[in-house]
Amino acid sequence: MTTMERAEAAERAMIEELERAVVKSVIYTSGDRDPRQPVPPRPPGKRVMMCADPRLPKMPDRPTLLDFFTLRFGPTQHMMQSARLAQKNGLPEKLVLACLVHDIAVAGFIRGDHGYWAAQLVEPYVDEEVSWAIRYHQALRFFPDESVGYSYPKTYLELFGEDYVPDPYIRRDYEYARNHRWYMSARQICVNDLYAFDPTVKVALEEFTDVVGRHFRQPREGLGFDASPSAHMWRTIMCPTKYL
Ligand SMILES: [Fe+2]
Ligand SMILES: [Fe+2]
Repeated sequence: MTTMERAEAAERAMIEELERAVVKSVIYTSGDRDPRQPVPPRPPGKRVMMCADPRLPKMPDRPTLLDFFTLRFGPTQHMMQSARLAQKNGLPEKLVLACLVHDIAVAGFIRGDHGYWAAQLVEPYVDEEVSWAIRYHQALRFFPDESVGYSYPKTYLELFGEDYVPDPYIRRDYEYARNHRWYMSARQICVNDLYAFDPTVKVALEEFTDVVGRHFRQPREGLGFDASPSAHMWRTIMCPTKYL
């Protein structure tokens, strides 16, 4: 067996032990398997997941943003370090919040186009400038602005190669953002982002309870159970293996 086949067999064995069948959404497997192929058959007699996946920690009935941080997101130190730096640099509180959530798509949803996804997730709950800044940090990251000491990230040279050229839509959105009145807000996310990778610094989420309380409109019904345009996205993060 190849390493890939062994990993798949181990995963199958783990899934077979579960009471309910896990049927993954196409986007989770596309590429590892050809999405045009028929999906593997459901084990006979097994029901499917219709929310709570027993492999994941249980979410409260009315989840808050902070619950998603602690129960569903991957490592969040990067965002918290970034928010703390923004605070130290004297940024307005709402931009501290923007830094705190700027990469939530990478941490808990989908990596590709993460700025756009994160903006959409938080849009109904934050000041318009905050979601705007999060959306456009995605494009601005690729373009230096020496006036605020922001150069093209060295890690990008390593990650993407010296010859990488951002997609035309990224350049288009950068050019649009550059002339926008909120340009500096999005740029500040990049400025505070760049230096925010320090494995020795440990920031506690509690440091930001007040900032979140003041600048994130937590829905009474719980994030995901309100009727906002992005509530379903929060539900997907909560129940990533839900069948329908
Ligand atoms: Fe980012
Ligand atoms: Fe980041």
